[in-house]
Amino acid sequence: MEPTGRSGSIVAGVSASSEQPSTRAAGARRTGGSDSAGRAGGAGAAHAAAARTAAQQLIRLDRATAALDPPFAVVDLDAYRANARDLLRRAGGRPIRLASKSIRCRALLERTLASDAGFRGTLAFTLPEALWLADNGLRDLLVAYPTADRAALRILADRPDDAGIALMVDDVAQLELIERAVAGSRTDPAGASNAAGGGGTGGGHAPPRPIRLCIDADAGWWPLGGRIRLGVKRSPLHTSEQVTALARAIVARPAFRLVGLMAYEAQIAGVGDRPPGRPLMGAALRTMQRLSARELAQRRAAIVAAVSAVAPLEFVNGGGTGSLELTRAEPAVTELAAGSGLYGPTLFDAYSRFSPLPAALFALPIVRRPGPGVATALGGGYLASGPVDRARLPRPLLPAGLRLDAREGAGEVQTPLLGAAADGLRVGDRVWMRHAKAGELCERFAELHLIEGDVIVETVPTYRGEGRTFL
Ligand SMILES: Cc1ncc(COP(=O)(O)O)c(C=O)c1O
Repeated sequence: MEPTGRSGSIVAGVSASSEQPSTRAAGARRTGGSDSAGRAGGAGAAHAAAARTAAQQLIRLDRATAALDPPFAVVDLDAYRANARDLLRRAGGRPIRLASKSIRCRALLERTLASDAGFRGTLAFTLPEALWLADNGLRDLLVAYPTADRAALRILADRPDDAGIALMVDDVAQLELIERAVAGSRTDPAGASNAAGGGGTGGGHAPPRPIRLCIDADAGWWPLGGRIRLGVKRSPLHTSEQVTALARAIVARPAFRLVGLMAYEAQIAGVGDRPPGRPLMGAALRTMQRLSARELAQRRAAIVAAVSAVAPLEFVNGGGTGSLELTRAEPAVTELAAGSGLYGPTLFDAYSRFSPLPAALFALPIVRRPGPGVATALGGGYLASGPVDRARLPRPLLPAGLRLDAREGAGEVQTPLLGAAADGLRVGDRVWMRHAKAGELCERFAELHLIEGDVIVETVPTYRGEGRTFL
């Protein structure tokens, strides 16, 4: 489905300088910016303007989608724009590379990038995705995770231009895999290597275009001399020496050009420091994150200085939705990454520094009433990836006062919803739910209905709706 002509406007007004709330949003502010079903818009006037009471929110969402039969997914553009403004505010002028895995909708990705110079470049999640986005005109694409996709590597090597695609590496084994995959391709860097060394057979042809690489450095925190290791299991390169050794291995190979460095502090950006009902855990997390951020700032600066002496870097990427204001304080970081903060899924309710509004929602139909205090919706079992944990379940948002059944959770074909509000629901009514994570919702729906005020202004395809399921 092609986006319609209204498209350019969907994220208009994202600019941090644009403080004109819509008429309806201004009305919502008069009625109070707190949102009993969702978040308190704790981040300034723009945020408060987009927050509504649960009752107001339910009325306008139901009105906007009255002609649709659930299940379906929507993006509330009023909330999305407020979230975008808040990300830009928190980034404090440092450009934000959009984490596409957390958006998975090309229309929203493209228009958010076009909406404000503060959004710059895409953090893609697979090479086939980056190639597809490049075919659709996007540039400056950093693939955030290493690839072993030989066919996609050949396509990249054969492209007349590289569309600014950079691949992520943290191991010489990945360099070797890439070299093997592109050997014999039209822009065979290995051929160049041979020619440069004088021992190859490929002399005489134009030097091929080196593949752009970014080194992923481990941003974990290893206190007590490494006896404790906090962070995610990503890159094996923790010290400045380890990162620099790989940088040297890259510059020694003509197949490659080292252009960037990334270090993603998952233990800060991806862990909410205000877990509901667990104040002691929250205090412990905040202390851990403060100490980790302090250690990382020093180590990241040292790594950047050491690698820059080996090769000039175009960018140093760090952070995520959960850490923008902390990561931007580091002079060594030239750009941030974020995506989830636009959709505002439930895992991002647990942060003390910011409160995204719920922007991506899905509606389910009530199809039966098993008894008092329970209404059962069709489908809904859209669990988020990650460790087995209740926090990965979707959560009912509207009408307010519903909860999942502890034994059944959210089911493949039905989801019982409990609570006083269930008695007000009849067969054929709808409930509004939130996913725990951002982009994964788009793997369940072919399209997103974009809501402004109380109307659907446009319907756009998700990646899946365009026939693309990358992971
Ligand atoms: C490399 C990297 N950067 C940034 C992020 C942050 O993305 P988001 O803002 O969607 O949490 C992630 C999320 O996993 C990531 O893997």
